[in-house]
Amino acid sequence: MFDLGIQGFFDDIAGLFTTPRVLGIDMGTVSMKMVEVSKKVDVLTLENYGILETREYLNRGNAAIQTSSLKISEREAIPLLKKLIEETKPHTRQVIASIPSFAAFFVTIDIPAIPDAEVGKAIQFQARQYIPIPITEVSLEWVKISEFQNERGQSMHRYFLTAVPTAIVKKYTAIFKGAGLRLVSLEVETAALARALIGNTNPITMIMDIGGQSTAFIVIEGGAVKRVTQSDYAGSTLTQALSRTLDISAKRAEELKRRKGLLGSGGEYELSTSLLPFLDVIIQEGERARRDYERASGKQIEEIMVVGGGANLKGLETYLKNQMHLKVRTPDALWRVRRSAEIEPIVPALNTELASAMGLALRKFL
Ligand SMILES: Nc1ncnc2c1ncn2[C@@H]1O[C@H](COP(=O)(O)OP(=O)(O)OP(=O)(O)O)[C@@H](O)[C@H]1O
Ligand SMILES: [Mg+2]
Repeated sequence: MFDLGIQGFFDDIAGLFTTPRVLGIDMGTVSMKMVEVSKKVDVLTLENYGILETREYLNRGNAAIQTSSLKISEREAIPLLKKLIEETKPHTRQVIASIPSFAAFFVTIDIPAIPDAEVGKAIQFQARQYIPIPITEVSLEWVKISEFQNERGQSMHRYFLTAVPTAIVKKYTAIFKGAGLRLVSLEVETAALARALIGNTNPITMIMDIGGQSTAFIVIEGGAVKRVTQSDYAGSTLTQALSRTLDISAKRAEELKRRKGLLGSGGEYELSTSLLPFLDVIIQEGERARRDYERASGKQIEEIMVVGGGANLKGLETYLKNQMHLKVRTPDALWRVRRSAEIEPIVPALNTELASAMGLALRKFL
């Protein structure tokens, strides 16, 4: 087989020896995003990036979101990935990729303080109750997020668990292999977002990742992910709402949504009239995640950051600030990397869209 890794080597021998590089690839359900980051001495540089949108979903009509549409098949993903690589021509084939949040399970569990050696077993035992697939078929990770005394005065430890079905890990590994890439590491998208957007000293922040098919609400405290909840209401829900109320094709609705967002009107009609009820559902789910976190931790979420394609909705920031009464901080996923002056005008959009991909690449260097 043609070994793309070797080819890259011959392309840029000097570069490879002096400049370690990596690709961060975020494979979403409606788009694939890639960044190429290099490190020379102590300087990180954004060498290249690519965003490949798969508008195909728009042609599937206005069918309600089906869970099957959330599944990425090898047959669909490999050619797209190859296309992304062909067009961006990166100088490395080494990849760090993400498993989408919706493919993982996130659970918070409390167990009595026990010796470290016994924690794993206790967690696995409890996790069975919350994870709807056999524990032998998931990879499980956990971090301790707090210690407290329960009402009986017993010392308890609280853990945040992330479980990913082994089948998903296998599928992603096969996709990257099939596209001729060398996958060096896979992580859940929430961890990549936290790395890209948050430093250790930030206030307690909720990241709202509004994608095409799902929205994730991620609470981050002290640089670590403490809670994740998800919703099936996302960007395509808004497009479908416009398409229905204005009786226009999904393609046209998508275009209108992007061009005008909450601020525009379609003829006599305020677009916000059809968008807001659905946006409100997303916001309510965010509010619920916030309340749950605040109740369980006794701490307050201070800021919110919106990422994902849906974050580009015009008028969203102001609306969100008024609804949630939280400081809305503009995400800055690219602050650690040097970049070409040419891309400066689109940096605000890249900050929201490339956040996951950037976090993945940074895993190699931070
Ligand atoms: N300018 C814009 N205004 C409003 N919505 C936008 C804009 N640009 C992109 N979107 C929406 O962003 C969504 C895609 O977001 P993103 O690229 O983050 O999805 P994804 O990561 O592939 O999806 P998922 O996370 O669900 O797998 C689409 O619904 C699209 O309509
Ligand atoms: Mg996404």
